[in-house]
Order: sequence, then C-alpha cells, then structure tokens
Amino acid sequence: MRPTYHMAIETGETTVFAPLPGDAAGAGAAAGLADTPKERRVYFEVFGCQMNKLDAEIMLEILGNAGYRLTHDPDEAGVILYNTCSVRQQAEERVYSRLGTLRRRKLREPDLVIGLLGCIAQHHGADLFRRMPHLDLVIGTREFHKLPSLIAGVRATSEKRLATELDSPLEFQRTRNFGPNRYQAYVSVMRGCDMVCTYCIVPTTRGKEVSHPPEQVLAECRRLAETGVREVTLLGQTVNSYGKRLGTAGIGLHTLLYGLEEIDGIERVRFITSHPRFMRPLLVEAMAKCRKSCEYLHLPVQSGADSVLKRMKRTYDRDYYLRVVERCRAAIPNFAIATDFIVGFPGETEAEFQASLSLVREVGFDHGYVFKYSPRPGTEGYAIPDDVPDAVKRERNQILLDELGRVQIEKNRGRVGARAQVLVEGPSKSDPAMWTGRTRDHRIVVWPKTAADEAGTFAEIEVAAATALTLRGHRVGAAAAALAATSTQ
Ligand code: 5AD
Ligand code: SF4
Repeated sequence: MRPTYHMAIETGETTVFAPLPGDAAGAGAAAGLADTPKERRVYFEVFGCQMNKLDAEIMLEILGNAGYRLTHDPDEAGVILYNTCSVRQQAEERVYSRLGTLRRRKLREPDLVIGLLGCIAQHHGADLFRRMPHLDLVIGTREFHKLPSLIAGVRATSEKRLATELDSPLEFQRTRNFGPNRYQAYVSVMRGCDMVCTYCIVPTTRGKEVSHPPEQVLAECRRLAETGVREVTLLGQTVNSYGKRLGTAGIGLHTLLYGLEEIDGIERVRFITSHPRFMRPLLVEAMAKCRKSCEYLHLPVQSGADSVLKRMKRTYDRDYYLRVVERCRAAIPNFAIATDFIVGFPGETEAEFQASLSLVREVGFDHGYVFKYSPRPGTEGYAIPDDVPDAVKRERNQILLDELGRVQIEKNRGRVGARAQVLVEGPSKSDPAMWTGRTRDHRIVVWPKTAADEAGTFAEIEVAAATALTLRGHRVGAAAAALAATSTQ
C-alpha cells in the first residue's frame, strides 16, 4: 500500500501533520480521505525535538503502510496520537492539557483511539492510564513499530495497551524522504544517551546508546540521494559518540563523514547534537577534510561556570570547552558554533551566572538557545532543591539571550560584502517575492527571487545587510554544489 504523503505544519509549539495537496500521492491521499472510514483516519501532533519529529514521520510511514490516512482535523480522526517530550515541565503540561480536552469526546465516542507516545509515555508508563482513564495507548520511544497492531488490539478487545520496552533496537527501513523538504533529510544514526547529566531526563526516556551500523546509515543516505536529497543532518542525542558498542573498533562519526563524501548527490552533511567530551581529534580532522561536512557545530555548553558544570555532571570544565572550540577553529576555516545554556540550575549564584554570560563573548557563539532550569522527577538533580526563584531565572534568561543576540548580530554584520553559498529552499513565508535558504554555516539568507532560483539548487548570494537572525542580499550566480571546506561559508 502506498504510504500517506504529508506535510508538517509548524504551529510554533508543536508540529501537526497534514495530507500534502498538490503532490500526486498526497492528492491521492487527500482524495482518499473521504473514502477512508473514520477508524482509519489519524490525527498526529508532535512536541519536542527533531528526533521526535523524525520518529513521528517514521510512525506515519508505518501507519500509511497499514492503510491509515492522515487528517489534520482532530474531529475527523478515529485515532489521535501525540508524540511527546518530557525535557521540561512546560512541555509535559501542554500535552496533558491537550489530552484533557479529549475526555468528553471519548465518552461520546468510545471507539476513538487516543495514544500517547514517546518520552512522556516511556517515563510514566501505566501511571498515565490512572491519571487519564480516557487514554488507550501508551507507547515508549523504542516500540512504535508496533503501532498498527496495538491500535488493532485496542479495538479488538477494548483494552488499553502499553509498550515501553527499552531494550529492543528500533528496526525500520524508511522508503522515502520525510523532509523538511525534498532536498533536505534527517537521518537517525544513534538513539539513547549514556551520559548522566543531573538535570536531564533523556537517558531515562530514551535508554542506553544504540548506534545503527555505518553500512545501514550510508545505504539509507544513498537511497535518499537517489530521491534528490542534497543535504543530510545526522541525528543523535550525543551524535558524536556514535559507534559505541558496534563491535568494530575504530568506528565513529568520522566514519560516516568519510562515507558520505563518496555518495553522489549529497552535497552537505551536518550532525546534531554533539557533546563537548566527544569532539575527538579524528572527528575534527574529518570535518576539516570532508568537503561536504559543513563548517557548523551545535555544541551545548549548558554553563560557563566550572562549579555548575560539575554539579550538572557534564564531565568537562570551561577550559576544556574552550580548547575544543579552539581546536575546531584551528582546523576548520569559517567555523561557526551554536550552543545551549541552562540558567537557574540549583544553587546557581550571580557569579556563576556571570561566568555563563562572559563565555558568550569569549567563545563568540554564532547562535544560542537558553533554557530555564526545570526540575525533572527521575533525574539526580530533582533531589537538589530548585532554589533559584523563577523571576531570577527569567531575568537571567533574558540577559543571556540579549548578549547572545548582540554577539550574533556582530558576527552576521561581519558577513556583509561577502558571498555565501546557499542551498535554495523556496519562497520566504512572510514575503513570497523573497526567497530563502541557508549557508553552510547555518545562517538564514533572504534575497529577491530571480528567474534562475530553483529550490534544491545552490546559489551564490552577495550579502548586503544583516540582522541577528538573517542575512539579506542578492543573487550573483549559481554556486558550486559543495565548496571546498576551506573556502568561504
Ligand atoms: N531544564 C531545562 N533545560 C533542560 N535541557 C535539558 N534538560 C533540561 C532541564 N531539566 C536543555 C539542555 C539541552 C536542551 C535540549 O534542553 O540545554 O541541551
Ligand atoms: Fe541529556 Fe546530557 Fe545526554 Fe544531552 S548528554 S541527552 S543533556 S544526559
């Protein structure tokens, strides 16, 4: 059976999947919706990180193969699924409130199947049925290939189904690219996390590290390249520790970078998210040598204070982080770096916060995210009193964001007058006369559309102006697909 083709609609907080109009298979799927009985219509909403989105796409393919069709209207659906995130309390609460609104409907429509999937499901398991008796399915982070049979089981017996084994590796061969568009694809290379950062629930919800064998990852990338994909982003919780437990010595993320160099069609390679501890020389060397590997790294630091890093059990200190950045900069021309910070970790003093603030300028981050510490039951940090008042967390959050913004705009202004190679994505959302794409170092570029612009091709844009988030310019020509790693951006 043909899988349901779909698009992802970003609502700001979540992603809702909808049938894709215009696409031949999508139109078929949309047209088929009227003929599809309600019990086979699925509404699917995703909370959280890129990994969750990719997992949701995999589930949609599995459901499509089992004859389910997607609808973006929950009222039209006979199956409602949420793929969830538990990294912060706020994300959990949003899911609970969404589920709460279905309570009355389930009383009216007992055949409706409601499923909670992903991290919250993994963490709270059967407790969720007690909290929300109208819930039918709880499926964790490694068993979602069972989705069609679990839905069928609920329908056959009217009994709830729970699937939260963490040991089974997820075996699934995707048959197509899930996006974000035809030219860019995410590829999961490892799952789980072996670290024990005291604030983080991920090791509990996603289990121990499991890497997919390199032949399998590269075969998937080869298939994607054949469908027109030009840029792949390799995904993993600590993606740069890739290769552990594969049983063959010497395999690491660098193996994948070198392997991808040989795949025709793929022109850009990125990977998220890296841990500072695993930015080993072999990997930095591979980034420098592989012309497809982009000069960009997302390397969460979390704090600039050694004492906080120690309490977080991050396994490195400020100096170590700075040396990693230095090593990357020395090897990789035009290297760009993004990061994550947490503010208000238990006991964070003003001096400790100032250490984070000063790190922003010292490193010169090209981009950064800031999160207010959120205590997660089940983590080691939960036992430590959450003693930084919310008002202080909010203030520190803002101060750090402002500083990141100032540094970012200075760095972007430094690009004015330069030429950037851009992978053309298409019209900008706010103004269709302007087109948009990203540079190799992940900066967003907008320019007035020309007749030569075509999504999925490479353009050379001369940068004329910069804001904190975007570069503006005009097209000066086509760009060589993958620039030598030593040339600009
Ligand atoms: N509270 C706040 N932020 C958190 N993160 C992870 N756990 C927590 C938490 N308990 C942040 C980290 C991580 C990002 C994905 O989310 O900065 O890098
Ligand atoms: Fe969480 Fe730390 Fe693992 Fe990242 S490395 S997923 S922050 S435990």
